[in-house]
Amino acid sequence: MGWKAEYNKKLVSARTAISHIKDGDKVVMSFGCGEPRAIVRAMRENYKDFHNVQVINMLLLGETPWVDEEVKGHFSYNSFFASGTNRKAISDGVADFTTCYLSEAPMVLRDIVKPRVTVMSVTPPDSEGYVSLGTNCDYIETTLSHCEVKIAQVNKNVPYTYGKTRKHITEFNYFVEFDEELPEVPAPPITEVEMQIGKNCASLINDGDCIQLGIGGIPNAICEELKHKKDLGLHSEMVGDGVVDLIKSGVINNSKKNFNNGKTILGFGFGTKKLFDFLNGNKDIEMTPMDYVNNPLIIAQNDNLVSVNSCIEIDLMGQVVSDTIGEYQFSGIGGQVDFVRGATMSKGGRSIMAMPSSAKGGTISKIVPKITDYSAVATTRNDVNYVVTEYGIAQLKGKTMKERARALINIAHPNFREDLAKEYEKRFNEKF
Ligand code: COA
Repeated sequence: MGWKAEYNKKLVSARTAISHIKDGDKVVMSFGCGEPRAIVRAMRENYKDFHNVQVINMLLLGETPWVDEEVKGHFSYNSFFASGTNRKAISDGVADFTTCYLSEAPMVLRDIVKPRVTVMSVTPPDSEGYVSLGTNCDYIETTLSHCEVKIAQVNKNVPYTYGKTRKHITEFNYFVEFDEELPEVPAPPITEVEMQIGKNCASLINDGDCIQLGIGGIPNAICEELKHKKDLGLHSEMVGDGVVDLIKSGVINNSKKNFNNGKTILGFGFGTKKLFDFLNGNKDIEMTPMDYVNNPLIIAQNDNLVSVNSCIEIDLMGQVVSDTIGEYQFSGIGGQVDFVRGATMSKGGRSIMAMPSSAKGGTISKIVPKITDYSAVATTRNDVNYVVTEYGIAQLKGKTMKERARALINIAHPNFREDLAKEYEKRFNEKF
């Protein structure tokens, strides 16, 4: 049978596709801009057909129907990342949360969680019968290879990306055609504080370096500040709109990359139509799964790899809390530790932890004597190196406890330095 005949045979309604989900199944879905919303809607509408089905994904942008009171007993939700749409549900115990390094997410899903069904968004097939997984390669490429039932929403708005996202239609069981706009993540306006942090970070990035940018408000500010650099490379689990102009203008050209030369390596795109249009048909961009792009041993093969991530708070020893505020699960550890370690192992590499010095309208210092009770340390004091705030740069690796505390207090918000200095004097029995 030719691929067209096979595709047509697999083309079904959303209702028919989801009828292959059995009671008790685990269903892993694509996330973010790759959310297969037509399938999600069909499952929600027909919730009575399902019992005890666990839906798994990371970082929802839309509604989280799996936590509605009405679907209790029909669906439960296991999220690999907390965000505005599911934080409350996780905190209330209505949804559950799985923590893991993103480099391990494909393995965790494949070997431990073992979902039977996977659901994702894809492009329409090309002339050879290949679709593309679009904005998301991350863990969905792995579950596509290992799940028993593979369902795809075919949507013409999904960008045709290359790398490991290009898959033949023979790899899927069911296709559901439904065109709709992709979920978007617009960049929030850059604040003055973020701009200054961006400047400080940019001062640690040299022409020819290979960069990784994390999640949150700071990456876009850094992109603004990188406009005057030359010959940067990009190897990043995720990117937003911020990198598009840098690549278009040739600031990022991957020409100095000693590994994957000439190519931008990504795990997933997390932006708006500006990013989708840029990714569409772009063969200079290679989409790769998280056990590749986030693997510290792969990251480290890039010389001069500079990682930039953000966090919630840092104590005076340099312990970094990144995804919890006390016992409240605020986000996820993501690829932070993967990239901190990869950057540390990279020849000439540097890891940067960038954050505003205060939160909640300046009422809370993010540099603290002691991390908030019940918070989880993401990046340990042994892993952390550069810490950047709007007040400067603290370099911590190889530094004593006293030196670390001093360096951090010097980049804390001035309103909190006195209290932190008192803590220093109490702890070390010497004048700050
Ligand atoms: N105590 C209490 N609240 C705090 C806080 C602290 N120490 N630090 C931040 N917050 C609050 C802020 O006030 C803000 O609240 P609001 O929305 O009510 O104003 C909120 O947390 C978000 O802070 P903000 O600085 O705007 O966050 P961000 O969008 O820049 O994201 C992280 C920052 C840390 C949440 C984000 O970078 C992250 O999830 N990091 C971990 C994962 C990671 O690094 N992944 C790497 C690649 S995926």
